[in-house]
Amino acid sequence: MKAQLLPRDKWPGKFLGSLVFEDRKAPLGVSQAEGKEFMAIAEEENFHGQYKKTILLRSDKGRQRLLLVGLGKKKEFEPDRVRVAVAKFIKLAGEMKIAEFGLLIPDPKSIPIRGPNCIPRFITAAVQGAVLAGYRYTEHRKNRPEDPEPPELLGLLFSTGKAITPTVRKAAAQAGAVAEAVCYTRDLVNEPPSQKAPEMVAELATWLAKRGRVKVEVMRKKQLIQMGMNCILRVGAGSHEPPCLVHLTYKPKRRSKKTVCIIGKGVTFDSGGLSLKPSASMDTMKCDMAGAATVLGLFKLLGELDLPVTVHGLAPLAENLPGGSAQKPGDVIRAYNGKTIEVLNTDAEGRLILADALAYGSKLEPDLMIDMATLTGACVVALGDEYSALLGTDRKTINRLIELGKEQGEFFWQLPLPERYRSHIKSKVADIKNIGKPRIAGTIVAGLFLQEFVDKKVPWVHIDIAGPAFTKEDWDYTRTGGTGVPLRTLAAFLSTI
Ligand code: BES
Ligand code: MN
Ligand code: ZN
Repeated sequence: MKAQLLPRDKWPGKFLGSLVFEDRKAPLGVSQAEGKEFMAIAEEENFHGQYKKTILLRSDKGRQRLLLVGLGKKKEFEPDRVRVAVAKFIKLAGEMKIAEFGLLIPDPKSIPIRGPNCIPRFITAAVQGAVLAGYRYTEHRKNRPEDPEPPELLGLLFSTGKAITPTVRKAAAQAGAVAEAVCYTRDLVNEPPSQKAPEMVAELATWLAKRGRVKVEVMRKKQLIQMGMNCILRVGAGSHEPPCLVHLTYKPKRRSKKTVCIIGKGVTFDSGGLSLKPSASMDTMKCDMAGAATVLGLFKLLGELDLPVTVHGLAPLAENLPGGSAQKPGDVIRAYNGKTIEVLNTDAEGRLILADALAYGSKLEPDLMIDMATLTGACVVALGDEYSALLGTDRKTINRLIELGKEQGEFFWQLPLPERYRSHIKSKVADIKNIGKPRIAGTIVAGLFLQEFVDKKVPWVHIDIAGPAFTKEDWDYTRTGGTGVPLRTLAAFLSTI
């Protein structure tokens, strides 16, 4: 979908959309005089601007049609509601086979976002809502009449041409780039597992590095052996598909303000290994590389934006299968930083590949290290399917991610990393073991395990995305399948560093 910014009177299309606050006199972007009439008709059908409620009106002259979507009460407003409401427009426009849809952009005074960024923030949410709601994964099926195509063109219609400032244009372009990156990540997560073996994901990363200021290095089996990345090797040992470690680097043109290392778990399929999962828990495990997919999505974006930060992206990639050479419960492995791990459950494999990646990332001496992983089922039990857990040593970054996430419609909650629980991963035969006590603080214990591989000098945040990385039901602007969480928040974070 393309977005175009233009004054309302230049819009050739027949369909206009406007958002409405509950019990207000006029839809946003519509004059009081004109709006009063519309609202009178809408109210006859019990439309008062209730959140997510929609109504289609025909203007008197009969030429244009106006679609209204409720934003709910003004005092309950948050920018993410714009994504939700615009998603409604996209769905309805699709059902009515509208190819060009125009959204009326409100006057800044009428929305409760303070400051000069009001309209750019509105536009960002609107463009993202439209692109994200239009996403579908149709690689392996035909289009369906009951699931119609979204409009091709989204018009962002301003009351005057003067309102279309360079800032507003930039916001629309960047929001589009972020949304496209999210769709790219969703595609990777949705891809069937046998079509995205580690080597194939590495190939995609290599492809990304052909653009922008992005470079790539892929460490394959031989090199991993030389380097002592035994955790990645052992997790991948039960599969015919060899594991690898992808290292992407983005360097800015200008002076770099900071160096950040972003790591994503890339288990391209998690059967559990010899500690085999039951079938019912295995059927969504193609999503276990969502962290790595987010790293790739981020680098697609970094190739397009012009951020003044150096970013390292690491994606340890392996397929966790119970083949003849698979690692066994009871095995001991030596990680890249020299610590030994007793593997008591081969299904706790994410923390193993991350152990090597975190130790390697620490050596790059970044100012900040963030890892993302579909790491623990316990996280879904604790926080549900819409919240990611944050754990780590960098309180400031944790708080920022929580705040930024609200604007992005991505939700985070902090869990502690208590030293008191470190005893849970003490091993009798190695430095540590890869599981704690059964059903006790699974997400926290995984975080404490990861911390063993992070250099104490490196501020670090771990994001457990086991809940929101993949959804089994449609959300407002997110289809069943890979969601792209937490790419939008990371992009916002890196953009404001
Ligand atoms: N990939 C899973 C975690 C997961 C579960 C992600 C559900 C998304 C949805 C991870 O590798 C795993 O199997 N974790 C185990 C750890 C346990 C063996 C300590 C789990 O959570 O059961
Ligand atoms: Mn597992
Ligand atoms: Zn896993």
